[in-house]
Order: sequence, then C-alpha cells, then structure tokens
Amino acid sequence: MLKETFRGAESKLYIKDWLDLPAIYKQRIAKTYRIKELDFYFRKQRTIHEAKLLAKAKSLAGVKTPFIYEIDIPQTTIIMELIEGDQLKNLLPSFKTKKIIDICKEIGRNVGKLHHANIIHGDLTTSNILLSSKNNELIFVDFGLGYISDRLEDFGIDVYLLERAFISTHQDIYEDSWNAIIQGYKETSQYGGQIEEKIREIASRGRYSKRV
Ligand SMILES: Nc1ncnc2c1ncn2[C@@H]1O[C@H](COP(=O)(O)OP(=O)(O)OP(=O)(O)O)[C@@H](O)[C@H]1O
Ligand SMILES: [Mg+2]
Repeated sequence: MLKETFRGAESKLYIKDWLDLPAIYKQRIAKTYRIKELDFYFRKQRTIHEAKLLAKAKSLAGVKTPFIYEIDIPQTTIIMELIEGDQLKNLLPSFKTKKIIDICKEIGRNVGKLHHANIIHGDLTTSNILLSSKNNELIFVDFGLGYISDRLEDFGIDVYLLERAFISTHQDIYEDSWNAIIQGYKETSQYGGQIEEKIREIASRGRYSKRV
C-alpha cells in the first residue's frame, strides 16, 4: 500500500482524506525556471488534461482508473480515490508463472481497450498499473503523457514502450509475459493483427517519435 508521499519529475502525491474518503492528491509542482504565469497555465492545462483522460479511459474504454473526487485548479491537483494495493512492478516478480500470464493477458486486454477507444496512455510501465488488493483488478494511473489518436503508429509506440519497460524491469519473465500481453491485446484492439509488425518496424528504426 502506498503510505508516503511520492515525488515524480512533475508532480508530488500524498494521501489525505477527502471528506471522509481515503484519497490521493496528485499535485503538479511549479517549475521555478519558467515564467510564473506561463508555468501555472501549463500545470493547469496538464492537470485538466490528465483528469479528462483518466475519466475517458473509464467511460469510453471501460478500463479501470481511480475515481476522480475533485480537480483543484488553483492547487493544480487531482484528488482521486486511493487504490488499496501496489504497483505491478513490485508484485509481479513474486507471482507464479500462471498468475503472471493471467495478469499480463489482462494488461494486454486493457491496453487494447484503450486503443480501441483511441486513447494512448503515453507512459505504459508496470509502475503505472496497480493491482487492487480488494478485488484483484488492474487499475491504470498516470495519464499525464496520454493523448487521443487513431494512428497505428501511436498505438505501436505505446505498446513498444511497454515492451521496453518489461525488458528492462521484468527481464526474467519477459518472454511469457510478452506473449500473453500481445495475446490479450489482440482480443480487444481493432489493430491486434497489425500491432506486432508495427512494433518490429518501430524497433528497427531504433528511435521513435514521441508526442508530448
Ligand atoms: N489513485 C491512486 N491510488 C493509489 N496509488 C496511486 C494512485 N495514483 C498514483 N498512485 C501511486 O503513485 C505513483 C505515482 O503516481 P503517478 O504515476 O500518477 O505519478 P508520476 O509517475 O509522478 O507522474 P508524472 O510522470 O505525471 O509526474 C504511482 O505509480 C502509484 O504507485
Ligand atoms: Mg507514474
């Protein structure tokens, strides 16, 4: 369970009740090197942008994301449901192969659903997928780099980045996991049949264009 404050490059997270509900506050932090007004404008836009995608992932794609309780614009903060559980990154290594394969298939199905709804996550890693300890569901977070697109290229990059994350973080289970992810992806995405070829093409280029 997440107990302490998290601090990323762009934001800090802390746990605090909202009304009487356990909540996470994700606050975009000021960049002091930017002009103050411009900095606030960017943080405000990004906060709204991320909240919208968190909501769209749920409503348009049917992918589980935390409920948003409030968007505090002056504080550039998203206040959302606290998911009881942990990052998949910490949990996967302790699971047996069968469970890993089941979870990876479910990751693939969920990414496929996002893409089917034209939602690109933008930062697919096992740190940004939580496993709820209440009901064993996968919950996707961190849509700050996400965007809407219907381009196969963008789907490919999203999945390619997930593959890179698996290779670097879960090397020993990579092969089984990756096959399961692609299998799950094919079940739900309209581009299931083309995704592997696209990823290979992106990998062979040795670089990719990333929209921010
Ligand atoms: N609603 C939530 N409930 C429980 N834990 C959460 C929730 N949202 C985020 N977390 C935890 O906090 C971590 C950091 O959150 P998140 O990934 O959104 O921020 P970040 O990586 O710092 O984002 P950014 O890249 O936008 O700065 C997540 O990996 C996850 O472990
Ligand atoms: Mg993150």
